Amino acid sequence: GIPKFVKIVEVGPRDGLQNEKNIVPTAVKIELIHRLVSSGLSVVEATSFVSPKWVPQLADAKDVMEAVCNLEGARLPVLTPNLKGFEAAVAAGTKEVAVFASASESFSKSNINCSIEDSLARYRAVTHAAKKLSIPVRGYVSCVVGCPVEGAIPPSRVAYVAKELYDMGCFEISLGDTVGVATPGTVVPMLEAVMAVVPVERLAVHFHDTYGQSLPNILVSLQMGISTVDSSIAGLGGCPYAKGASGNVATEDVVYMLHGLGVKTNVDLGKLMLAGDFISKHLGRPSGSKTAVALGRV
Ligand code: HMG
Ligand code: MG
Repeated sequence: GIPKFVKIVEVGPRDGLQNEKNIVPTAVKIELIHRLVSSGLSVVEATSFVSPKWVPQLADAKDVMEAVCNLEGARLPVLTPNLKGFEAAVAAGTKEVAVFASASESFSKSNINCSIEDSLARYRAVTHAAKKLSIPVRGYVSCVVGCPVEGAIPPSRVAYVAKELYDMGCFEISLGDTVGVATPGTVVPMLEAVMAVVPVERLAVHFHDTYGQSLPNILVSLQMGISTVDSSIAGLGGCPYAKGASGNVATEDVVYMLHGLGVKTNVDLGKLMLAGDFISKHLGRPSGSKTAVALGRV
């Protein structure tokens, strides 16, 4: 059977806003995070301490983090690609971080400018430093099914990177379909391979919705025992280094499906929709959530 409770990891302020053409003002980011937390979400990924040359949209990471780091009610992790980012994050008040590796050599190079092995060495340095400060580290694996350059990625490669991240101390491994090409047909063998080396309760799924396959992909993941799901308010998102990838599955749509399945989330869909409305109005375009559009009409 599927889990009775699912933890949603909201990635909108990070994965969503990293890909916006126009830079969103810091005050809007801060208000969005507040609204997401007050909807009941227990984890809201707040920003990234990456190079501002690579991701100018998140160049205000320090200001965002300093403004929200004492917010009660949710964990607010940030992405850190190396020790430099980790140290800056900690100095700004961060209490939880995430490192991000890839199952595709080409994507690793284009996203973080190094090989998979070099990235794992950097992340060992980050997890080592984090352990001394008792800071939990999440590990991402990107391109778990397909890569924009290399095409199909074998499940064994994903399992290898996931296990390396788990063994270095990541408490949770999020499996990212960066380009959004997965279907239940490719998700199941990928999860089988990863679940053979990392306990299922330590795994999360992270689907981009390019081909509209996220909800069926999440459903098969739940049926395989996954109980942590990443999503983005109003379906914002994409990766600037994965051309053609669209936003993450919309949080509103995930919550609607989960509640329909009788799965608890502790998220208030009404309040969540207000947060989605707030950011969609700011960006000046309709929400990417079908649930938000449908419920907004009635
Ligand atoms: P690099 O150019 O190889 O770095 O970039 P470097 O070490 O050679 O340093 C070059 C310059 O960057 C130096 O500054 C460093 O100080 C600076 P300069 O001397 O030229 O003035 N620098 C930094 N500045 C701020 N914060 C830092 C930092 N590190 C170095 N942490 C690097 C390598 C990893 C930094 C770069 O490639 C980078 O920042 N990449 C981030 C890309 C990114 O954020 N992508 C999106 C997130 S991943 C994603 O979306 C996928 C995910 O959602 C899951 C999925 O969907 O699959 C997670
Ligand atoms: Mg992503």
